[in-house]
Amino acid sequence: MLLRERIDPSKLPQHIAIIMDGNGRWAQEKGEDRLFGHLHGVESVRNIVEGAAEIGIGYLTLYAFSTENWDRPAYEVSGLMELLVDTIRKEVPTLNKNNIRLHVIGDVGMLPPEARAELEEALKETSANTGLNLIMAISYSSRWEIENAIKQIAREVKKGNLLPEDINTDQIQKYLSTSNFPDPELMIRTGGEYRISNFLLYQLAYAELYFTETRWPDFRKEELYQAIIDYQHRERRFGKTGEQVKN
Ligand code: IPE
Ligand code: IPE
Ligand code: MG
Repeated sequence: MLLRERIDPSKLPQHIAIIMDGNGRWAQEKGEDRLFGHLHGVESVRNIVEGAAEIGIGYLTLYAFSTENWDRPAYEVSGLMELLVDTIRKEVPTLNKNNIRLHVIGDVGMLPPEARAELEEALKETSANTGLNLIMAISYSSRWEIENAIKQIAREVKKGNLLPEDINTDQIQKYLSTSNFPDPELMIRTGGEYRISNFLLYQLAYAELYFTETRWPDFRKEELYQAIIDYQHRERRFGKTGEQVKN
């Protein structure tokens, strides 16, 4: 039986978030430059986006570049930026063909102007699509996002538009960069590290976590499906007892 057929369509996660890690080591293990790994990582992005769309996932967030990644050697940063612009430019027709809407979260003001222009163009060109929502986290970090949210809330309070008593989790959610998306139920990290690395700290509060040794350039939809099947066998308790959840 194909893995895909073992997925219960009635229990699909609405939103899957992925930390695409392990490109550099994948390349270095082959005696290649780290950028070679990033280049091959693009193939996995295509494959996983296609795989998610095929089974009807609503939202897929991919962590492509963190705020902290700006501190990498300049040649790697510029190589990654070039790859990003190039890929987005080339992928827009495929996104449109597959009814995929692109979104971006992160501090895009940090991006080189031509990358930003390319990105904005792609957002506009795919904005009418109604299928999979593909959310790219670029120059993103969760603490940056939370800092931003708090600043905005403080401004609203100062202007008298919001009372401190009215600040609650629903309000906070509105000021996050993911305000239009549901929280991810499943978070996958490839590359064998067991950490969150400043990714969606608030939104992952009750996500199921799936870690795999597979380096991102080797990650394919079969393993995505495996992760979903694994997720479907977990009991999500949200603080309650197992008995409460079953009844
Ligand atoms: C993930 O792969 C991609 C980015 C962070 C841009 P890495 O480049 O972190 O690869 P490793 O973790 O060094 O192998
Ligand atoms: C996390 O990977 C960021 C992305 C995948 C974009 P890193 O490779 O930057 O994370 P650390 O440094 O190992 O925590
Ligand atoms: Mg890494």
